Parts: sequence; C-alpha cells; structure tokens
Amino acid sequence: MKTIRFGIIGCGLMGRELASAMSRWCHLAEIDSRAELVAVCDRADAPRQWFVERIASVRQSTADYRELLANPDVDAVYCAVPHDRHEELYCAAIHAGKHLLGEKPFGIDQTANDAISACAAQHPRQIVRCSSEMPFHPAVQQIFAMNEAGEFGQVIEVNTGFLHSSDLDPDKPINWKRIVEVNGEYGVMGDLGMHACHVPFRAGWRPLNVRAVLSDIVRERPDGKGGRVPCRTWDNATLLCETTDLRGGGPFPWTMKLQRIAPGEKNTWYVEIKGTKACARFSTKNPKLLETLRYTGGKQSWQQDDVGYEPPFRAITGGIFEFGFSDSCQQMLAAFTHEVAHGEPLRPSAGCVTPTEAALSHRLFTAALASQRQQATVAVES
Ligand SMILES: NC(=O)c1ccc[n+]([C@@H]2O[C@H](COP(=O)([O-])OP(=O)(O)OC[C@H]3O[C@@H](n4cnc5c(N)ncnc54)[C@H](O)[C@@H]3O)[C@@H](O)[C@H]2O)c1
Repeated sequence: MKTIRFGIIGCGLMGRELASAMSRWCHLAEIDSRAELVAVCDRADAPRQWFVERIASVRQSTADYRELLANPDVDAVYCAVPHDRHEELYCAAIHAGKHLLGEKPFGIDQTANDAISACAAQHPRQIVRCSSEMPFHPAVQQIFAMNEAGEFGQVIEVNTGFLHSSDLDPDKPINWKRIVEVNGEYGVMGDLGMHACHVPFRAGWRPLNVRAVLSDIVRERPDGKGGRVPCRTWDNATLLCETTDLRGGGPFPWTMKLQRIAPGEKNTWYVEIKGTKACARFSTKNPKLLETLRYTGGKQSWQQDDVGYEPPFRAITGGIFEFGFSDSCQQMLAAFTHEVAHGEPLRPSAGCVTPTEAALSHRLFTAALASQRQQATVAVES
C-alpha cells in the first residue's frame, strides 16, 4: 500500500470535506494507495485548529503556505482557497515539486489559468488536477460507459447544469464568493462552471462558440456590519454552445445552466444526453436514479433504474445503499491518489479534470463574458 502524504492549504468548507475523506480511507475496499493528511495551512488560526484537534496524523500546522511547501514529508497538496489566490498558491505548489489537486476554477481568470497551465507543463512528472466530484456518482459513470461504447449514436443535444438557491435571500450577507475582486469576473461560471463542463469535455465534446445570457439579480447585499454594499458578481448564467464531437458528428447544441438563484434547488447538478440511438439523464436531486432511453426502431420509452453504491473505487458500503456528496469527494480524492501512485487514472471516466480541460473551461467562460458584453455569439478558442 503506497501512502501519499497530503498537505491541505485552505482549511475552510472544502478543506474540511477532503480531510474527512482522507480520515475514513478504510471506507475504500480495494484501492492500493492511501491518502494521509500530515500538514495543514490556513492564514487564520481557528480553521486550522479544527484539523489539529481531530486528525492525529497532522504534524504541521502553519499560517504560511511556504512552510508547508518546504516540508519534505508532503508529497501532494489539496488547495482550497479563494479564487484570487489560486495562481500564486498553485504555481508555488507545483514549483515546490508537489502533486496538486487544486480547486476550480483553477485560476481567477484566463491569465491566471494560463500561468498555472504553464507551470504544470514545466513539471510533467507531477500530477496536477482540478477538483470536480459529481461525475464520480455511479450513475454518471454508467453514462460515461454508454458514451465510450458509442451507445448514444449521433448526439442530438446535451444539457448540463448546476443549480443553487441560497442566494435567493437578498438579506444573505455578502462573502468572498459574491465579491468580484476575490471570486472573479466569471461570477457563477467560476463557481459552478467546471462542474457542468466535466462530463462533456471528458466525453470528447468541444464548444465551438457560445451565446451567453448572464444575470445579476441581487445587486446589493448586507455587509454583515449593519450596512449594504454592491454585489456585482453574475448570479446566473445560461450558455448555449454549438458543439462538435471529436469522434465525428455534430455540430449539436449544448446548453449549460449555472445558477446561484434557482428557486427550490439546493445543490442540483444534472446531465442529459440525447442521441439518435440512446438518451440518458441524471440529477443529484435523486442520486440513485438513472434514466435511459434506447431506440431500436420500436417504442421510445424512458427506463428508470435504481443505481446503488457502485462507484469507480469499490467501498465497504453495500451495493443497495445511496451514494452522496461526501462519497463523491472521497472518490475524486481516490482517483487523484491512484493517479499519483500509478501515473495514470483507473480508467478515463474515473480520472480528475486535467489542466487541459480546465484551460478549455476558461476559454469558454472568457468567450461567454464577451458574448454577454457584445450581445452576440462568440467563438471559443480551440
Ligand atoms: N468542489 C466543490 O464542490 C466546491 C465547493 C465549494 C467550494 N469549492 C472551491 O473551493 C475553494 C475554496 O472554497 P471554500 O468554500 O472551501 O472556501 P472557504 O472560505 O470556506 O475556505 C477558504 C479558506 O482559505 C483560507 N485562505 C485564504 N487565503 C489563504 C492563504 N493565502 N493561505 C492559506 N489559507 C488561505 C481562508 O482563511 C479560508 O479558511 C474555491 O476555489 C471554491 O471555488 C469547491
């Protein structure tokens, strides 16, 4: 069993989630590599204390990421910090010789992402990947398998999206995710966009151009100190892309809905593929339901199957039980750890987002911003 020793930089919401995934590695039944958390870094003391008090393997706790990166006992870094810090910290981690699982959007904008991609290219022996966990859901893995087997036939249309609703409340105080200087000009596209691109990109579908409609719905929020401040980030984005299939076929439409203000939706990630021979759809709203339609010339009926706990990396949970968000995070981490240990993913659909895919998402969102400004369809750089 090869142990990959991790340092986490950014001990907030996602830092804790991934630390929890490492702490219950015994959950995974067959994997031949192990993630162990040995170091944590956060510029604030209180978030780090949570880790120190709960995770015995943590031997370094520091406010300075340079100290963590200088630690020879750290093989790999998971970095979950606000978007304006991505370029500096990701490049530093790569230059320090660490494998890197960095959170999306993998740079606050295209310039930052270009710099991260250049660093990754200079260090080809290190595994550098971008976080995106939803495609590790068992039902989505089955959709990947359908695509790899060519079951869809000619793709007619693809719809993906990620919907949240907590920002519907205009009295929710502003935080860094709503501040354009920290979150980035992409707004909701930077927050949720990579999630909705992962399946189409990995399936080999490439956006040629985009028409984007971006909405700033809540324009002012409480500042948490009794006043109100402008909230200038895009809340919702609807993208229509003309898309081609690298294996031939197309172009076909791909719509992507990224919404922070989608009434009634808590954390709904979905994918729907329509092809001439088969269709498939999945939503985290019902995480064990996979719907498929296979057309052989006769009736066109949607079939509903309960998909159990059948993730890429087998686990101790019985196959009849439900799979959830924490499981998808652990599966993503297992995929990254496996790739560090073996130099390649378990299989293409069970690999984390690559820097090339993250760079494509930046070209798409940069074109989407231009589309909104110009009120026109804009080509996506190939
Ligand atoms: N994959 C997902 O599903 C998912 C979900 C939420 C957020 N995210 C991403 O994760 C990242 C972090 O988001 P979060 O929700 O965990 O944020 P958060 O605000 O909960 O935590 C961020 C932490 O980073 C620390 N930090 C900031 N600058 C630092 C620095 N220079 N050095 C060390 N620590 C620093 C902050 O003190 C804070 O504790 C973002 O890129 C976000 O887009 C991903």
